[in-house]
Amino acid sequence: MTATGDIRQIVLVRRPVGAPVAEDFALVRAPMPMPGPGEILVKMRVGSCDPAIRGFLDDRPSYLPPVALGAPINGMSLGEVVASNNLAWPVGALLRAFATWSDHYVIGADAMGLEMVEAAPGVPLQHYMGALGPVGLTAWVGLFEIGKAAAGETVVVSAAAGATGSTVVQLAKAAGCRVIGLAGGPHKAAIVRDLGADIAIDYKAVPDLAAAVRAAAPDGVDVYFDNVGGETLDAMLPLMRLHGRVAVCGMVSQYNDADHPPGLKNLWQLVVNRLTMRGFITYDHLPVLGEAQAMLDRLLAEGKLTPLENVREGFEKLPEAFIDLMNGRTTGKTLVLV
Ligand SMILES: NC(=O)c1ccc[n+]([C@@H]2O[C@H](COP(=O)([O-])OP(=O)(O)OC[C@H]3O[C@@H](n4cnc5c(N)ncnc54)[C@H](OP(=O)(O)O)[C@@H]3O)[C@@H](O)[C@H]2O)c1
Repeated sequence: MTATGDIRQIVLVRRPVGAPVAEDFALVRAPMPMPGPGEILVKMRVGSCDPAIRGFLDDRPSYLPPVALGAPINGMSLGEVVASNNLAWPVGALLRAFATWSDHYVIGADAMGLEMVEAAPGVPLQHYMGALGPVGLTAWVGLFEIGKAAAGETVVVSAAAGATGSTVVQLAKAAGCRVIGLAGGPHKAAIVRDLGADIAIDYKAVPDLAAAVRAAAPDGVDVYFDNVGGETLDAMLPLMRLHGRVAVCGMVSQYNDADHPPGLKNLWQLVVNRLTMRGFITYDHLPVLGEAQAMLDRLLAEGKLTPLENVREGFEKLPEAFIDLMNGRTTGKTLVLV
């Protein structure tokens, strides 16, 4: 391999207290890493900001170990192989992997989440890090594999103007569901309506969220796709129908203050309404991801799926983009083109 020079990395310089701020991160340079036997050198093309990263910045066990102080932030990205010691991953191949916020990184074939990206001509590359990638797969797995949503059912989704939520809205509509989206602010609610939701509720503007959802779904809710946890989850439990399903995708409302999770008062409703409440991690569901990807590709081709994204340019924008994400200032998938 012949790549030389310095690489850029975003490292954690201190653990955030509350929402992350610029001072928690630093842009540093490091020598270009060299791939060992069987390894590849990858150039980041599209960096992804995910709420789950906030959990890795605290010094507590999560489903992945915490980021060490001084170490590059862990995250998903879409990259291009620029040097290879592995015939299965030739130079020029596009891939997604869970790696680090480094503009070049070395991985082996066993890297977490490593998968080839077959980009269709004319489709913007960043969609494969969004609605045609992990975002779309998460929405699909939560809605259909966990939530078992079916035509004619009522689906409620929180953070509906966000990356996952905006995709859930569109997938549920395409499947013939009645869709109610919860979003913070009139601008976000308008976006949710434009994406096809039957009803969008600006939860910041209603005095009683439960009353607003009950008015929108007087016969109850079959599937609640939960992105936020906290008070919204608690408000939703009594609104579920008999045998309703709560697909627990994430609890972003709690990530900035993980030491003080709110208590749930309405768990008894699981018994009353024989509810199924199930958390999931998308990439645990490998057997169905091919089917999910095919549906996402088809809906995009048919014009029934509009990837919603906020995209910045420049590797150094990753912290800024992440800070905006964790302050609720973004709509759609938060991405950085490198
Ligand atoms: N299980 C999995 O495999 C998996 C995979 C990917 C993502 N997820 C989870 O899915 C959820 C959505 O992730 P995403 O990537 O699609 O993010 P996102 O929805 O694009 O962005 C986060 C949104 O969450 C809402 N929010 C509510 N409380 C918040 C708070 N205290 N701070 C910041 N935002 C808050 C905001 O929308 P409003 O203004 O409308 O409140 C914000 O725009 C997260 O919980 C994430 O962890 C899970």
